[in-house]
Amino acid sequence: MRTHYCGHLDESHIDQEVTLCGWVYRRRDHGGVIFIDLRDREGIAQVVFDPDARETFMLAERVRSEYVLKVTGKVRHRPEGTENPDLPTGRVEVLGHTLEILNAARTPPFQLDDDDVSEEHRLRYRYIDLRRPEMQRRLRLRYQVTREMRRYLDGQGFLDIETPMLTRATPEGARDYLVPSRTHPGSFFALPQSPQLFKQLLMISGFDRYYQIVRCFRDEDLRADRQPEFTQLDIEASFVDEETIMQLMEEMMRELFARVLEVPLHTPFPRMSYAEAMERYGSDKPDLRIPLELVTLSDLMKEVEFKVFSAPANDPRGRVAALRVPKGCGLSRKEIDDYTCFVGIYGAKGLAYIKVNDASAGREGLQSPILKFLPDEVIAAILDRTGAESGDLIFFGADRASVVNESLGALRVKLGHDRGLVERGWKPLWVVDFPMFEWDEDDNRWVALHHPFTSPREEHLELLSSDPGACLSRAYDMVLNGSEVGGGSIRIHRPEVQELVFRHLGIGEEEAQEKFGFLLDALQYGAPPHGGIAFGLDRLAMLMAGAPSIRDVMAFPKTQTAACLLTSAPAEVDERQLKELGIRLAKKPKVE
Ligand code: AMO
Ligand code: AMP
Repeated sequence: MRTHYCGHLDESHIDQEVTLCGWVYRRRDHGGVIFIDLRDREGIAQVVFDPDARETFMLAERVRSEYVLKVTGKVRHRPEGTENPDLPTGRVEVLGHTLEILNAARTPPFQLDDDDVSEEHRLRYRYIDLRRPEMQRRLRLRYQVTREMRRYLDGQGFLDIETPMLTRATPEGARDYLVPSRTHPGSFFALPQSPQLFKQLLMISGFDRYYQIVRCFRDEDLRADRQPEFTQLDIEASFVDEETIMQLMEEMMRELFARVLEVPLHTPFPRMSYAEAMERYGSDKPDLRIPLELVTLSDLMKEVEFKVFSAPANDPRGRVAALRVPKGCGLSRKEIDDYTCFVGIYGAKGLAYIKVNDASAGREGLQSPILKFLPDEVIAAILDRTGAESGDLIFFGADRASVVNESLGALRVKLGHDRGLVERGWKPLWVVDFPMFEWDEDDNRWVALHHPFTSPREEHLELLSSDPGACLSRAYDMVLNGSEVGGGSIRIHRPEVQELVFRHLGIGEEEAQEKFGFLLDALQYGAPPHGGIAFGLDRLAMLMAGAPSIRDVMAFPKTQTAACLLTSAPAEVDERQLKELGIRLAKKPKVE
């Protein structure tokens, strides 16, 4: 139907006759001449209709926003002074002589170039929202990312193998999406939270190098970087160690960034232990673009009379830490109150501070509600350790270490953005040396920090029984600009170690047999040493596209309440369907 894409026209087409197909982006009447900006996926071209071609002109007069047109005409230079340097096609226009309206359109629910449209409205009419050049660009970038991943992994000998969507629950830590079975009334499939166990089985089957770009499902609380249905680049390989996987993945990232964004990423990526990340950034996914750091003060505060500090300083699970804000002296009472509220979200009970008006004037140069509780030598040590200079402000957190890390870690990121301290560019790193287990305060038990199939370090096997908290795993996370873009590990390949780890997680022999019997069996039939990783593809695409939300790089995402506004899913189903599945609803669910 067409000879060219609208967005491809340039001066090389001058005097050529072209046929374009697309949507009406804008229509303007200019003193007897009609201009139509015609849009297709490649861009926008200006088409002009003048009254000389009377019939065509009259048809052009009927055209409205988002009508679908086919236009034939001759490409010419735009008259001098009317060129649009912002548009790749901005030096030319098409003088249309033939026009066909392929389809009319109702008045769109919003103008495509209106920035003030609610996300709900956009999601409800997603097919129109996706016409926006910005959305077209983002989804194309995502496609380029997956294309380059496939190209790279193919070159490295990875085979793309599919795994089931209707399966058993795998413990990735979130709630499962369940699917009732008609043929087994009362039984349910779970949609996979990841293909973790299947990819391990594929290693046991000898496929050696596997990958899959695969949908995963997790019924968890949603945030800007989380969706209930998301995509992983999932990878597993045999006869490898951490080094092999990390090097392969760094190389893949380097190629992705070079080919898709034309940005050089420097390899090798820096590596940081989990302990160091928590100590310096209060987070296991530190944003290294922000030059602020937490400083531990617990040892200084053991004897001070300020109970808020001395109690956690003397508690092995407690922490007292400081965060210096360069030139923060100017923060107002109100701003400090707002930051105090902010850390409250993460459980902090307050946010003590010292304003360093003059670092050389001792106590006199400082201003703070807690000064009176701190002896001179402690104050001197605080200034020294934080490197505070005149004009700075120091914030303090004191509580259980987990609360201090979470609250000051989040405050660090917020301050970085509020005060314009975030450096430009890409700061990838590996976080390594994760503990095997984390103590769950609510449940009073150990839980796996990565997942239960992650191998402990060989030399820490003993610690599994004697000191589980000190046992480190062979897991690694790839972090980019404060986002966990990927995580993986070397796996357990010996059945007795797997059983031991299950036991420490409070999964008894019977439960292990019932839930993971197939894995424990498989491990006994010749399992090679193996390991892998999974990337959050949506997250990576979001970062690379510079999009504010993961939803912006998904064609048809769900809302914060895990609903699809376009199709109104989830929805009620017929009584008959339920009966077939042997399901009786206790009471009619509330419709929102
Ligand atoms: P993990 O649970 O860390 O590991 O997931 C891997 C990566 O997937 C992304 N991700 C998500 N993205 C969007 N929405 C979500 N709800 C969501 N949850 C996770 C993150 C994360 O780094 N089977 C293991 C991998 C392995 O060990 O090989 C796994 O799934 O970017
Ligand atoms: P108070 O004695 O409760 O008025 O607290 C004095 C200062 O300490 C205030 O600035 C509080 O915000 C701060 N503060 C209170 N609890 C904590 C805490 N757990 N961590 C850090 N600062 C705190």
